[in-house]
Amino acid sequence: MDLRVNIGGLTLANPVGVASGTFGYGDEYAGLFDIDRLGALYTKAVTPEARAGNRTPRLADTPAGMLNSIGLANPGLDSFITDKLPALRQRRCAVIVNVAGTCPEEYQAVVERLETVEGLAGYEINISCPNVKAGGLALGTDLKLVESLTRRLRDCRQRPERPLIVKLSPNVTDIAEIARAAEAGGADAVSCINTLVGMVIDVQKQRPVLAMGTGGLSGPAIRPVGVACVYKVSRAVGIPIIGLGGIGCLDDALQYFLAGASAIQIGTALFRRPECALEILDGLAPWLEANHLSSVTEIKRLLKV
Ligand SMILES: Cc1cc2nc3c(=O)[nH]c(=O)nc-3n(C[C@H](O)[C@H](O)[C@H](O)COP(=O)(O)O)c2cc1C
Repeated sequence: MDLRVNIGGLTLANPVGVASGTFGYGDEYAGLFDIDRLGALYTKAVTPEARAGNRTPRLADTPAGMLNSIGLANPGLDSFITDKLPALRQRRCAVIVNVAGTCPEEYQAVVERLETVEGLAGYEINISCPNVKAGGLALGTDLKLVESLTRRLRDCRQRPERPLIVKLSPNVTDIAEIARAAEAGGADAVSCINTLVGMVIDVQKQRPVLAMGTGGLSGPAIRPVGVACVYKVSRAVGIPIIGLGGIGCLDDALQYFLAGASAIQIGTALFRRPECALEILDGLAPWLEANHLSSVTEIKRLLKV
């Protein structure tokens, strides 16, 4: 069974990827399962300078997921290229760099520099982080900014074979409008969704559990939101959609494919069961066969609405 999917000109061996920020750069998971079988690995966000991230505590449990306020902690662009990229280059799966910054110039600086290095398959532009004061959501909720940032990055890109994937936030009134703005700016694909703003309060201490007050909710709790977002976006744009949010098993992934996704990512579920990524991958071909389909992109045609 051919599980290949095309994301803006990039062919992925299969549609199963691991989500930014939940997989680091792959090293910690390398002993747990065969990462090379994945279709894509989306790195932790890379910013021009190193970032320590937000104050702790920056993780909190919720009944059906978790809340994080990591704040894009990462070693910075230089260290990414020197210390992380050599191992990532050895991967057989596509390595897609999650790019972040506090202003359009910073996003551009990251993409321009990464264009000069080998071994990367594409860029996922994170305009949807709810845990930073500048950049992140401030960019991703403004239609004009989304379009102009996407165009700016598209214009500075030297390697059109590396798709520009704009990662959308569910923390907006109409995610379809934002997706259309990204498409108008020249995005090759969109991924949706990033986390939802949430808060957990410690009743004994009468203060928020997270030092920052609020954080981003991820995990099973957000899956219906993610599926609805993919469904809405698939009716608004013609570019491929990468669906994520609360995926932990084959049925979860199939909901996203039925809603219109061409590929998926698994995030929070990896913390508890890293093996679920390959379980989902291994379940796909038998499911397609049983449903008389020859490719993943045909799944969306089955949806009855
Ligand atoms: C601890 C943590 C860190 C994250 N860091 C990033 C990040 O650096 N860049 C990004 O685009 N998304 C980041 N995310 C969001 C995930 O990539 C994903 O969009 C979200 O968690 C929903 O998917 P899930 O429910 O499968 O985890 C992070 C999520 C978590 C839980």
